[in-house]
Amino acid sequence: MLLVVLLCLFCLTSTLSVKDFSSLDHLQPKASYEVQTVAAQDLIKRILPTRASDFNVFIDKKVGPPNRDTFNIKSSTKSVNISATSGVAIAMGFYYYLNNYCGCQVTWAGSQLNLPKRYKVIISPGVTITTNDRFRYYLNVCTVSYSFAFYNWTDWERQIDWMALHGINLPLAFTGQEAIFQRVYMRMGLTFEELQSHFSGPAFLAWSRMGNIRGWGGPLSQAWIDDQLVLQHKILDRMRSLGMIPVLPGFAGHVPQNLTRIYPNANVSRLGDWGHFGDKYCCTYLLDFKDPLFVKIGSAFIQEMQTEFGIDHVYNADTFNEMTPISNSTQYLATAGRKVYEAMNTADPKAVWLMQGWLFQKTNFWKQPQIKALLQSVPIGKMIILDLSSELDPIYQTTESYYGQPFIWCMLHNFGGTMEFYGMLDTVNIGPFIGRNFSNSSMIGIGLTPEGINQNEIMYEFMMENSWRKQPRNITEWISNFAVKRYGSFNRHVDKAWQFT
Ligand SMILES: *[C@@H]1O[C@H](CO)[C@@H](O)[C@H](O)[C@H]1NC(C)=O
Ligand SMILES: *[C@@H]1O[C@H](CO)[C@@H](O)[C@H](O)[C@H]1NC(C)=O
Ligand SMILES: *[C@@H]1O[C@H](CO)[C@@H](O)[C@H](O)[C@H]1NC(C)=O
Ligand SMILES: *[C@@H]1O[C@H](CO)[C@@H](O)[C@H](O)[C@H]1NC(C)=O
Ligand SMILES: *[C@@H]1O[C@H](CO)[C@@H](O)[C@H](O)[C@H]1NC(C)=O
Ligand SMILES: *[C@@H]1O[C@H](CO)[C@@H](O)[C@H](O)[C@H]1NC(C)=O
Ligand SMILES: *[C@@H]1O[C@H](CO)[C@@H](O)[C@H](O)[C@H]1NC(C)=O
Ligand SMILES: *[C@@H]1O[C@H](CO)[C@@H](O)[C@H](O)[C@H]1NC(C)=O
Repeated sequence: MLLVVLLCLFCLTSTLSVKDFSSLDHLQPKASYEVQTVAAQDLIKRILPTRASDFNVFIDKKVGPPNRDTFNIKSSTKSVNISATSGVAIAMGFYYYLNNYCGCQVTWAGSQLNLPKRYKVIISPGVTITTNDRFRYYLNVCTVSYSFAFYNWTDWERQIDWMALHGINLPLAFTGQEAIFQRVYMRMGLTFEELQSHFSGPAFLAWSRMGNIRGWGGPLSQAWIDDQLVLQHKILDRMRSLGMIPVLPGFAGHVPQNLTRIYPNANVSRLGDWGHFGDKYCCTYLLDFKDPLFVKIGSAFIQEMQTEFGIDHVYNADTFNEMTPISNSTQYLATAGRKVYEAMNTADPKAVWLMQGWLFQKTNFWKQPQIKALLQSVPIGKMIILDLSSELDPIYQTTESYYGQPFIWCMLHNFGGTMEFYGMLDTVNIGPFIGRNFSNSSMIGIGLTPEGINQNEIMYEFMMENSWRKQPRNITEWISNFAVKRYGSFNRHVDKAWQFT
């Protein structure tokens, strides 16, 4: 008994000792409690149209500690009450109850929502679950092309519901950015035609946004650009109403070729031929970080986005994603980091730069001095690094936890939207615990960064429980439960088949 108590105390301290960054305290839901409550109620109606009125939901910040989404559930045979710290926390609590007390499951491919007639009772004070970290992140910059390229609002609405149920409070929201870039560049004097050879087509936007290619699969029509802007408004409204903090794009430095027509002295260099696309589509133009135009364009972009969409303070920019910088000098890389951040910070003094840590996979270029130079060029706590493939290649472990910059432990799992049957349950089971417990850990969350979705749902159900799980699971038992929830009943053969995973 004493041992149990001691162990639990250890669990608690290990959770609380994780470093908190007050520099991120302003990243909070923007919507009022009332808006978040209604958004969560509406979500429940979409998932359970005929039983939604059985669920009473409330926002109550007092159910959990600051910056740790928490929910409390009480139920009678006829109704279920969920009090939680945000709209997302309500949705999480709702899914927790469906999953753990009703044997239900909601996945991308479909849902098993065979509810019992009478609910299982949870008596007062109820079940209270507190998340382990501050953030749950979702999406890879590639997912929008591999899986969402032609998503309309119906698809996005389902996707955002899935996010909320699985606890996501920091989602990437990249849709519609071409409309904003278009305004900024055309105001500077570039023509629509000049932008058409810069943006790639609808299915390849991920890679033109990252500066890997330009123009490929295009041109983008004005109608597409405008439609995506309208869609982004709906996406942001929904995310914010649920209390999520959307991550909007920042300026990474890739510019249209003819910027030099307007500014003949602009210092623009060409990057390498990523993926052998050839001269017309490759070798994007990178504006030198020291060029005064860099901060000018970057901050104009953030300002225009604020005017159009409002502000959430987190911006994603990846300058060197799978692109080798032209110099390995630490001074050059520090300037790069400083200027990307300055462009954000000039327009939004509370800006936080979120960056994919994927670039550091190129270990023949990114040695410790280079990584350190880039990361330490931004004030500690003003950057969030996605440790993009923590289950395969946890970079935080070889960089003293990103030299103190906060990071998110992410499961990448899927490359290129491929449809194969695989996943590393063992690693995903313990990895986040190792991350939180790492020496001087700066881990602030967990995340999903699949390049494509609609595959291996088991991995995503499994991973997102790490939001609140206080210890690793027995995988054999977990798989059995997963199969029962997936099909709605136990079958010996099905169970055996799933155990082969
Ligand atoms: C749920 O909340 C309602 C309204 O506050 C209350 O009347 C009901 O008793 C609560 N049910 C449970 C199971 O706590
Ligand atoms: C979105 O597309 C699907 C078909 O892929 C269609 O059924 C649905 O009605 C569309 N939604 C909207 C809002 O256009
Ligand atoms: C750049 O501008 C020149 C005129 O100065 C024009 O001939 C050329 O087509 C433009 N290039 C692109 C890629 O739009
Ligand atoms: C232009 O940028 C390159 C690298 O970004 C730098 O080496 C060079 O000194 C810059 N040229 C001028 C004139 O500033
Ligand atoms: C940059 O690369 C060169 C050649 O590979 C090497 O000699 C030099 O030490 C590197 N510079 C830094 C700062 O790592
Ligand atoms: C956390 O790290 C400490 C010291 O490195 C170690 O003794 C302990 O077992 C670890 N705990 C977990 C849960 O990994
Ligand atoms: C952890 O941080 C302390 C205090 O800043 C420092 O002395 C120590 O070297 C760090 N440990 C590691 C493994 O980086
Ligand atoms: C996991 O659970 C199974 C089935 O209950 C049991 O046979 C196995 O020993 C357990 N594994 C561990 C590591 O506890």
